[in-house]
Amino acid sequence: MKPDIVLAEVVSNTELASGIFLIKFEAPYLAETAYPGSFVMVQPDNGTDPLLRRPFTLSGVSGNMVEVLFKVKGRGTDIMSKWEPCRIVNILGPLGNGFSISVDIKNAYLVGGGMGIAPLLFLARYLVARDVDVKIFFGARSVSESITLEDLNLDRCDLYYSTEDGSKGYEGFITEQLNNILKSDSVNGFLNSSIFCCGPLKMSEKVSEYALSLNILCQVAIEEKMACGVGACLGCVTCTKGDKYKRVCVDGPIFINTDIVW
Ligand SMILES: Cc1cc2nc3c(=O)[nH]c(=O)nc-3n(C[C@H](O)[C@H](O)[C@H](O)COP(=O)(O)OP(=O)(O)OC[C@H]3O[C@@H](n4cnc5c(N)ncnc54)[C@H](O)[C@@H]3O)c2cc1C
Ligand code: FES
Repeated sequence: MKPDIVLAEVVSNTELASGIFLIKFEAPYLAETAYPGSFVMVQPDNGTDPLLRRPFTLSGVSGNMVEVLFKVKGRGTDIMSKWEPCRIVNILGPLGNGFSISVDIKNAYLVGGGMGIAPLLFLARYLVARDVDVKIFFGARSVSESITLEDLNLDRCDLYYSTEDGSKGYEGFITEQLNNILKSDSVNGFLNSSIFCCGPLKMSEKVSEYALSLNILCQVAIEEKMACGVGACLGCVTCTKGDKYKRVCVDGPIFINTDIVW
């Protein structure tokens, strides 16, 4: 089904951590058509200020509802943080290519840094429902700046945390913890395993290095500033391997690690 403009109703808007909100919308069309890794363009205000829609990954779907997990950054997200239940919001979606999920997949390593965890929440629930063994690696600077995943309906996923200050989980970068687990899992080999990654580019590059060295398929979500979200404005163009220019909104936002120019 094609992306469409829908009028979605805010069901709840909860601050999970300082400046980080989980918003649930009643939006039957989006709930039916969304796929892991897809995103939506949300209009922060009914007027023209701010003019542009803002891109957000869908972090979950349940029944007629879709979820967006977002962090307050500037004017648009500040407006969104004040939305109350019953508010009607104009949303375009679902957009983007989404994660490519092999029918043979058995083991998935999901690696999220900061707000990069958002698309992986949807993906994790989708994979668990298909009996895939899911390990989630979630890195943050400090527990005080971050959400925790325990209350987010991630049953049957193994959760690994790291914080740079050691306030939760492993002290250091999440890539180090991923590396440790990959080493111990390597005794069983990585047939039918995949890595899915979203977060700061440096983190994703490191994850990609591990994936290449162990011959594990790896997909990476990329962020670019977006104006239209549908391939028309060329505002989100990025250069991929072989000097190929791609629009992140329609050719991505998910790319195979070997296609990315780091
Ligand atoms: C495909 C995609 C999915 C995203 N998913 C999430 C998510 O699930 N949760 C979340 O918290 N954030 C997500 N972001 C980032 C989010 O779009 C920005 O934080 C948000 O647009 C900031 O808007 P603002 O008005 O508050 O900030 P401002 O800085 O005032 O925004 C000004 C302009 O810059 C654009 N912009 C600013 N920062 C970004 C950014 N990092 N990426 C893209 N455009 C940006 C805005 O859309 C707007 O047009 C995603 C970005 C992309 C491209
Ligand atoms: S945001 Fe307009 S082409 Fe991608």
